[in-house]
Amino acid sequence: MTPADIVALHSGIASLVLETDRERVPLWRHLGLSVEAHDIPSIYQTRGTATFSMDADRAPDVFPLPGDGSFLRPALLVCDKEGKMLDLTLDCTGVDSADDRLTCDFSDRKHGLQVRVDYRTISGGFRIETSLQNRGSAPLSVQHFASCSLPLPAHCERIISWRGRHNAEFVECLEPMPQQGWSRQNRRGLTGHGGPCGAYVLAKGADYHSGLVFATQLAWAGDGRITIERDDEGFCTLQAEALFQPGEVILEQGSSCSAPPVLLAISDAGRNGAMAVMHAMARDIARWPGGEMTPRPVHLNSWEAVYFAHDEKRIGELAKAAASIGAERFVLDDGWFSGRGNDTAGLGDWIPDPVKYPDGLAPIAAKVQRLGMQFGLWVEPEMVNPDSDLYRAHPDWALTIDGRNPPTARNQLVLDMRREDVRDYLLGRLDAILRSAPISYLKWDHNRDHSPSGGAEQIRGSYALFAALRKAHPKVEIESCAGGGGRINAGILEYVHRFWTSDNIDALARIPMQRGFLAFMPPEMMGAHVGASPSHATGRVQSLDFRAAIACQGHFGIEVDPAAMEPAEREKLAGWVRFYKEWRHLIHGGKVLLGEANDGLVWQAQGTQDELLLWVIRAGHAEDRRAQPVPLPFANGGNWQVRIVRSAVSGGVLTPRATPFFHDLHNRPHGFAGSWLANSGLPVPALPAESAIIFHLKAQR
Ligand code: GLA
Repeated sequence: MTPADIVALHSGIASLVLETDRERVPLWRHLGLSVEAHDIPSIYQTRGTATFSMDADRAPDVFPLPGDGSFLRPALLVCDKEGKMLDLTLDCTGVDSADDRLTCDFSDRKHGLQVRVDYRTISGGFRIETSLQNRGSAPLSVQHFASCSLPLPAHCERIISWRGRHNAEFVECLEPMPQQGWSRQNRRGLTGHGGPCGAYVLAKGADYHSGLVFATQLAWAGDGRITIERDDEGFCTLQAEALFQPGEVILEQGSSCSAPPVLLAISDAGRNGAMAVMHAMARDIARWPGGEMTPRPVHLNSWEAVYFAHDEKRIGELAKAAASIGAERFVLDDGWFSGRGNDTAGLGDWIPDPVKYPDGLAPIAAKVQRLGMQFGLWVEPEMVNPDSDLYRAHPDWALTIDGRNPPTARNQLVLDMRREDVRDYLLGRLDAILRSAPISYLKWDHNRDHSPSGGAEQIRGSYALFAALRKAHPKVEIESCAGGGGRINAGILEYVHRFWTSDNIDALARIPMQRGFLAFMPPEMMGAHVGASPSHATGRVQSLDFRAAIACQGHFGIEVDPAAMEPAEREKLAGWVRFYKEWRHLIHGGKVLLGEANDGLVWQAQGTQDELLLWVIRAGHAEDRRAQPVPLPFANGGNWQVRIVRSAVSGGVLTPRATPFFHDLHNRPHGFAGSWLANSGLPVPALPAESAIIFHLKAQR
């Protein structure tokens, strides 16, 4: 046997193993759970021959191109200036590996194109970045450029992805692995309300708690595509890519470009294991002011409390009410700037409205500070209303098609972020506002899709504005919002610290939505507010306890006017604020475990190895007579003290049918063996629809 020439990169959980063949081409040998890769026979000794195949056999390589004898989906298509596709063939010029990095370099001698595929380990996962450099003598037009091309083993069985719309984000979709091909694409100029361009691929038998899962997301805030194709080789190939417009990416001589990175999590601890790696990678990317996350402050956001109907006096009253129930950050939402009495006018004119805020924002921001809260402000920089001074002065600054009516959505147009003068104007306005008052937080919104599209360069323009603002105001935290959850992705995460999950804060709708969000981002970045009842988005009526219990799973906030509530309800809300403050150290920054029990019960645990809060949630009406125990696989081993820290049960503390045992569990913890909790299950009381019980579990070591 000739042992293969192997290079490997290990994340601790998973391994990425390549073989370099006779021509030093890096070929895929393994992408999956950890392996020791020594004494492996060369792939050409084991893979045998197949009829109707190339005589010079080419095993699957890391960067497939048609000219190289590969029939996988090409990773790159490049044209000359006449639009003719170049016949690229890549020679590998080097494979370098270190403990945390593996780099493959290629060169197309004829056209002078260099390709680098760079795999790095970050926080238990892999970050893959691919870049190009033109060392030839002519400009090259890049038409298609995959961020990665990854083999998925033949025993992969199902794909989980998410779709969505405004007010209905993260709808989970479960599909079998394709017989031919599967793809998910966003073409709205935003990642969209289905969340990042990503998917979870489950191997045979995988569930929330066990089994092999591959989770991936493209770190990109614009149009993208993820594809999974079955090849007649017998395995599938996953590719993820940003979408470019033809002619948009021109690589001049000597210049280079990178495709957006891909995050890849591989785990044999099921969806929860892969999600933990995703969270670790997202936490790695986030850049907190001061270098570290501070306890996530309770927000009061003015939007649903007052919409556009505000001025300094009204907001002063709202801020007072917010402080009285324990809010720590007050966010002044839409409606504060010149001409903004409703959503038909004003976007682009970023100066405080002289009637509503005659002395600017400094007095209200100072008042908020005196009340002990931080002051945050809503902005929507990339937009302009045709009815605005900005548009009247610069109609050419918006993305439009000559000769056509401006294509408005919510009465607004998208500014052309590819233009430096547009970015300079916006930076100047945002900088002036931030200097005018003590503002430590921006809710950065983006309330429409791009049509016509500004392509990938539009996104890079937005990135540049975010980056310049972060540089000028490094202490300011930013929330990414796009009509709720339209811009949640690991690309924009380099600049922001929170995502607004959805404009729909109906607690029932939020249960699956927040679980979808958590597939890609950790709970401390998940904006979750208590809204009014009936819900403004759905019209449904829910108890305050239920609304607050669900909002406590993320970065908690309030979107009602506490002064308008009945005193008893207001006191109850203040109680939930205290609850969140008491437990946020467990809710944020640690692990999240999701599970499903029988008869429609779902559960969610957040915390550390030894201490967790556990939500047991009943959304709909029970079909069974009695509640069955809830097995908790994570609890296996040792002993646990379990108590109920909060009940959110419509109509009372617990149902009249709950036994004294559960009433006692509010006051006194009960000890359970971990094996009992894992294999027999935690006993739970019967719950009515729309209720949740929050347990506290502490390991006895
Ligand atoms: C979007 C956001 C809301 C609010 C409004 C203001 O819809 O998602 O939270 O900020 O814009 O216009």
